[in-house]
Amino acid sequence: MTLTDQSRAETYARSLADPDAFWLDQAQRLDWITAPTKAGDWSFDEKDFHVRWFDDGVLNVSANCIDRHLESRADQVAIVWEPDDPAEDPRRYTYAELHREVCRFANVLKARGVAKGDRVTIYMPMIPEAAFALLACARIGAVHSVVFGGFSADALANRMEDCGSSVVVTADEGRRGGKRVALKACVDEAAQIFAGIETVIVVRATGADVAMQDGRDVWYDDAAATVDTDCAPEPMAAEDPLFILYTSGSTGKPKGVVHSTGGYLLWAALTHQTVFDYRAPEVFWCAADVGWVTGHSYIVYGPLANGATTLMYEGVPNWPTASRIWEVVDRHQVATLYTAPTALRALMKEGDDFVTRTSRKSLRLLGSVGEPINPEAWRWYHDIVGEGRCPVMDTWWQTETGGHMITPTPDMMLKPGSATLPFYGIEPKLLDGDGRELTGEAEGNLVIMRSWPGQMRGVWGDEQRHFETYFRTFPGVYTTGDGARRDADGYYWITGRVDDVINVSGHRMGTAEVESALVLHTAVAEAAVVGMPHDVKGQGIYAYVTVNAGVDADDALVKTLRDWVRHEIGPIATPDAIQFAPGLPKTRSGKIMRRILRKIAEGDVSSLGDTSTLADPEVVEHLVANRVSSG
Ligand code: PRX
Repeated sequence: MTLTDQSRAETYARSLADPDAFWLDQAQRLDWITAPTKAGDWSFDEKDFHVRWFDDGVLNVSANCIDRHLESRADQVAIVWEPDDPAEDPRRYTYAELHREVCRFANVLKARGVAKGDRVTIYMPMIPEAAFALLACARIGAVHSVVFGGFSADALANRMEDCGSSVVVTADEGRRGGKRVALKACVDEAAQIFAGIETVIVVRATGADVAMQDGRDVWYDDAAATVDTDCAPEPMAAEDPLFILYTSGSTGKPKGVVHSTGGYLLWAALTHQTVFDYRAPEVFWCAADVGWVTGHSYIVYGPLANGATTLMYEGVPNWPTASRIWEVVDRHQVATLYTAPTALRALMKEGDDFVTRTSRKSLRLLGSVGEPINPEAWRWYHDIVGEGRCPVMDTWWQTETGGHMITPTPDMMLKPGSATLPFYGIEPKLLDGDGRELTGEAEGNLVIMRSWPGQMRGVWGDEQRHFETYFRTFPGVYTTGDGARRDADGYYWITGRVDDVINVSGHRMGTAEVESALVLHTAVAEAAVVGMPHDVKGQGIYAYVTVNAGVDADDALVKTLRDWVRHEIGPIATPDAIQFAPGLPKTRSGKIMRRILRKIAEGDVSSLGDTSTLADPEVVEHLVANRVSSG
């Protein structure tokens, strides 16, 4: 491995000049049962579309994250868990203990008939058992599909049905910020919607009294007491799927993004090591939820593949007080904190005292992810939280990319608000709307010219959708869906989504999904949803709703519809503003003009642009006059 003694620019140049040699060299970071002799084998052309990496390699992800560390760091803490309630004791698992826990979990799954290739859904709070469950699936070659614990029963059922998953791992309840989340009850509701749920494994997290259905539901504790604490890792082909993770797009239902075994793990491990300059056994804290890709790559797979001590936090950053996140840093002597701008903006509002009353001396590096970080929040993070001594890694990437794509490394010149430069092997370009390349200083559609090991391998059950979503608009390249600006130093500044996806508190939401939920309500005739600027969440959800004849469009209905969307999708999809509209601006061919709706939601009504193609221009005047502010 020669990365550490070469400058980033040199290593980057080598990664593009001789990718096969570079990636086969990098692949040595992993323990292979059969080492690969091939690196990337891919084509983005429609007639020969395929993406494969390390195709003849064989390995097991859980052996890479656990077993291979046992010789040198069996007694080092692998996972340190901080509970929601600060009065409770943290839990720690060494690598030896993690081995035992994961083997046991794997044997419980096997005993319930789970085999290689089967899909297992994980619907869990942020407790260590969630990580055990992921690694247990990886150990036996089952494909996990984590569904964020904040999603509704309906969302859970749809995701289980889509990937044909009959087994779900859950907990009695979750806890966040002192509140309880009734996870098991949600699974019961999901089972009413999707009849294919055959096995529910329930981890006892809070001890709540929950209903258990004979033959279907089993307490994890009871099952674990009867199985062996050793389980041989299943040899997996590098291209076997490791997991599915559902994410929102501009159209239709969420897509099951499929990630591979070998390429994904290498990408997670290499980026975690390089971008955070990880030095074992420092404590690394990625403050995301394991329900999102950030949690997959930087709580579980990247850190554990690198023999790290990874911190898992059950709660929220600002409970019981706005000092909590910094108290956790002090309590566990965290060296690297990786969080989202939305959390920083919320904490910044509370004032610096909540920060400065804590020590934070252990911090060496800070990271940001999930949405553009505004320079003000960046400076606060850097100057107040990090006291000017911790570089801020603003990492741009996506569920689809598996790990960091455009990101600084700690030794680089940083600019507040810029994700800086492409990581090894990543060749970005900016294209105009017609697909022409923009060179030098420019702003346009961000695309990636060649494959990288962590690239998604498909959309579960829908190969065509994979191609159509990412490779149709601009042929021959991966389209990110983001816009970006490149400055005179070649640094990239992500400007946000250019499609109908909005980013609420760093979480991706398809406007079409919220619209579908709204129109399911009997009061609603039509709905159009757009993003609006929000000073804490980054973007908020603004919904225009046309009600059916005879329905009272009043404040009570606003509340009803907000609750309805919460129940249909989950709290993160709750509209921030609902405006009742007698009509929506449409072209003569009936297409809703979202550009105008976005401008009105933004409050930017002076530049509505060309409205001459509207079927009924008066509709716009009514919308402008009745714009609502969030709340
Ligand atoms: O718009 C970009 C934004 O989040 C989107 C990806 O969302 P998701 O798949 O949920 O993954 C989030 C965690 C990687 C991107 O298309 N995004 C993510 N990171 C950044 C960002 N926008 C600007 N700067 C970032 N650092």
